[in-house]
Amino acid sequence: MFQLNNIIKTYECRGQTVNALNETSLAIGDNEFIAVIGPSGSGKTTMLSLLGGMMAPTSGKVLFRGESLYEMSLVERTNLRLRSLGFVFQSFNLVPWLSAVENVQVPLSLAGESVATQQERASELLSRVGLSGRLNHLPSELSQGQQQRVALARTLTNDPQVILADEPTGNLDPDSREQVMKLLSDFHSEGRSIVMVTHDPFAAQHAQRSLSLVDGTIVDTPNVSSAA
Ligand SMILES: Nc1ncnc2c1ncn2[C@@H]1O[C@H](COP(=O)(O)OP(=O)(O)OP(=O)(O)O)[C@@H](O)[C@H]1O
Ligand SMILES: [Mg+2]
Repeated sequence: MFQLNNIIKTYECRGQTVNALNETSLAIGDNEFIAVIGPSGSGKTTMLSLLGGMMAPTSGKVLFRGESLYEMSLVERTNLRLRSLGFVFQSFNLVPWLSAVENVQVPLSLAGESVATQQERASELLSRVGLSGRLNHLPSELSQGQQQRVALARTLTNDPQVILADEPTGNLDPDSREQVMKLLSDFHSEGRSIVMVTHDPFAAQHAQRSLSLVDGTIVDTPNVSSAA
């Protein structure tokens, strides 16, 4: 699915060079569920951004299904992202003045679906994450766990092959963590690939494989468990 070939990523910041990822090569297969763990500043979000087509590496190639992500045009890369990738963040990134159902409608609206289709699809996806009773609530009227489930429903709008999640359980209580990890595991069982950055050992247990990053270098790739 993904291949990182001799990737290096450095940031230039106020005359200083930060080596966020040292030379890294990695293959991520179809329908893998990978946890990326490692201390703060070790390069986890950087790796996820490179995979997500959001930031070009300083050198090396990122291949998605054999195609070099940063050698295609911006339009091609954006289309690929809209078609194939889903993103989940620690802070949910919901639009605060839109209701749950409207938040899930946003990508459907951008994709040019009719309002009736948007509403129908968004309601279905919210029922799927257990929120059929909260369609018209604003994010501020939902618990943290419910907000993350709205974000998960929104991620499914384009039926992505890959979900990239950055600390999806970082702001959640244990019950909500469990619900979110159950949903991500379900998404994986449906054939999607998941790359999840996490500090949370409970979350990492749900992955098939974990990678540890320390100071921009992958230090080991122990197998956590067999395929779910
Ligand atoms: N836009 C940027 N400009 C300059 N340096 C950056 C930038 N983004 C990240 N860095 C630096 O790159 C390194 C890796 O950052 P990254 O955000 O990938 O870490 P992380 O593992 O996700 O950390 P955390 O667990 O705290 O989210 C850090 O040293 C960070 O300070
Ligand atoms: Mg990070």
